[in-house]
Amino acid sequence: MSSSPPKTPVSQLKASTETVTSVHYWTDKLLSFRTTRPAGYQFTPGQFARLGVTAGEETLWRAYSVTSAAGEDELEYFLVQVPGGLFTEQLKSLKPGYPILVEKFSYGFMTVDRFVDGEDLWMLATGTGLGPFISILQDPAVWKKFRNLVLVHCVRNSDELAYQELLSALPQRPELVAGGARLQLIRSTTRDQQATAPGNLQGRITTLLSNGELEAAAGLDITVEKSRIMMCGNPEMITATRDILYQRGLRPCRRAVPGQFVTEDYW
Ligand SMILES: Cc1cc2nc3c(=O)[nH]c(=O)nc-3n(C[C@H](O)[C@H](O)[C@H](O)COP(=O)(O)OP(=O)(O)OC[C@H]3O[C@@H](n4cnc5c(N)ncnc54)[C@H](O)[C@@H]3O)c2cc1C
Ligand SMILES: NC(=O)c1ccc[n+]([C@@H]2O[C@H](COP(=O)([O-])OP(=O)(O)OC[C@H]3O[C@@H](n4cnc5c(N)ncnc54)[C@H](OP(=O)(O)O)[C@@H]3O)[C@@H](O)[C@H]2O)c1
Repeated sequence: MSSSPPKTPVSQLKASTETVTSVHYWTDKLLSFRTTRPAGYQFTPGQFARLGVTAGEETLWRAYSVTSAAGEDELEYFLVQVPGGLFTEQLKSLKPGYPILVEKFSYGFMTVDRFVDGEDLWMLATGTGLGPFISILQDPAVWKKFRNLVLVHCVRNSDELAYQELLSALPQRPELVAGGARLQLIRSTTRDQQATAPGNLQGRITTLLSNGELEAAAGLDITVEKSRIMMCGNPEMITATRDILYQRGLRPCRRAVPGQFVTEDYW
């Protein structure tokens, strides 16, 4: 965006013009921001919104997972500024008060209702792929549906481990713990120059899955019977993780065929 708020069309068939209400930078490249919520906007935790900004004569559209809980008055998104990225360059001077287009429909199939059974829900995220799990983990139904919730967040450097405060506070929220699940937060870094923080793992999700470190850290085995897995973020991580799971007998959820994993590629 330019330094003054861009003009956006007041009415578009499928979108409404919403207002940015807050912006929070986790690092110089990673940010979360909130917008007003379009009237009647519905989404299931795990789904994404399509956001639009105007750049000159053009309106650019991109998909962003919703990180806010389903019942909140505002919508929140978590994103990384891609160097030279067409859309994210427009957000460089994003401030409260800026207009942004939000499509009226939500999209995506990486939702917990895809699983018909299972005991342990594994949520595997690289980078900003954490976003949908922030929303999913604030859904009381998820805490009721599973016995164990395991969130794995893998980033290059530990300063990119966003949402720590919110995540650590989840087990203190009565509406969530009433469901009975146990939450485990597993963090991993791949490029930290210094020793990683105590308790954090080191290495890619794929490496930690292959060498057994991930299951050892959670104290849970990944099995066809018990494990249900959601993966989000880097598409190469997702492809490689699918292959590992496939070799262990797990299968993707299909429209009419229940499976053990669902995915969301970010590019
Ligand atoms: C279903 C879906 C949901 C998405 N949700 C999010 C989200 O919640 N947060 C988010 O930051 N992005 C998300 N994305 C990616 C987002 O839509 C944009 O592609 C991204 O913000 C870059 O747009 P751009 O125009 O600035 O860069 P582009 O010019 O489109 O550059 C794209 C390149 O940037 C890199 N890239 C794109 N997204 C990411 C990312 N998230 N992390 C690291 N590298 C990336 C890839 O190398 C990609 O080829 C999602 C994409 C999809 C398809
Ligand atoms: N300069 C570059 O070469 C380069 C490359 C890619 C992206 N970028 C840009 O840097 C920004 C930040 O990206 P990001 O760090 O949030 O996302 P990312 O590159 O997807 O990295 C997030 C985490 O995913 C891991 N990962 C990457 N590929 C994987 C694979 N095939 N299998 C398993 N794990 C994998 C990374 O490990 P590793 O640290 O081991 O990769 C890292 O820990 C983006 O703007 C992106 O466009 C730059």
